[in-house]
Amino acid sequence: MKALLLTHPIPAAPFVEAIRALEPGLPLLEYRPGLADEALAEVEAVLGWRFPPGVAERLPRLRWVCSIGAGVDKLLAPGLAPAVAVSRIVDPEQAAGIAQYVALMALRHARELPAYEQQQQRRQWTRRPIGALRSSVGVLGMGEVGQAVAQMLRALGFEVTGFRRSGGPVLEQVLRTSEIAVCALPLTPQTDGILNARTLAWLPRGAYLINIARGAHVVEADLIAAVRSGHLAGAALDVQAHEPLPAADPLWAEPGITITPHIAAQSSPQTIAAQFVHGWRCLRRGEVPPNRVDRALGY
Ligand code: GLV
Repeated sequence: MKALLLTHPIPAAPFVEAIRALEPGLPLLEYRPGLADEALAEVEAVLGWRFPPGVAERLPRLRWVCSIGAGVDKLLAPGLAPAVAVSRIVDPEQAAGIAQYVALMALRHARELPAYEQQQQRRQWTRRPIGALRSSVGVLGMGEVGQAVAQMLRALGFEVTGFRRSGGPVLEQVLRTSEIAVCALPLTPQTDGILNARTLAWLPRGAYLINIARGAHVVEADLIAAVRSGHLAGAALDVQAHEPLPAADPLWAEPGITITPHIAAQSSPQTIAAQFVHGWRCLRRGEVPPNRVDRALGY
């Protein structure tokens, strides 16, 4: 029984160290292209971020896949046998970090910081109307992360409405009344490209988008068009459809769009290792590891 580390593009070494500290005897195999079928045949668990093409099919004894993140979208490979359990990391610290990022971007936009930064460039001391913040925010996705975001934004004075797959207001209703929209959805076939020309048009003029989920939720060309037309004031994108974002990508240079390199918050290797080792021990006892996702739903 072996565990395969598929953490690329995140280096595996910190995970190896953190797992060894908890369970020195856990047999780990680091993935590299060219690994023989015999080595892969012993793998019963995977800790990873994404399956390289064709690898899931080469793991005949695989029973459990644990994501190193909150999302599992890159691990639900078509070649994954139906009986394989898939788990994710559930980390309140990560959710709190993401909520801080969203609060930072929401306040930066709502308090017009970019405009004051531009004024400073011109040495211009001009006060704009100032009021307490009561902007309306639609949080799309009310899982652990969405709930943490909503709680922090409410504490700051924002009026928050949550959108979830079932129950509560529908997407159009939420977007039509949101001065700021926050995407905290899981990426599934149903949510891929959910923020597109049609749905972005539901936002009121001058609205702002914050995406801390997955780049593929947003049709980036449609977002750029909405910002260029003045319909949207801008966006803060911690995630992009292509990561690392290529230097030639038009998102980099779009006034009003802030790009960060998927840093809103990450779980520490120690937290991930603790949850992985716990799941591994469950597996060895013949129990189901915790924090399983519903593979049909994708989260
Ligand atoms: C990060 O994007 C995660 O899924 O945890």
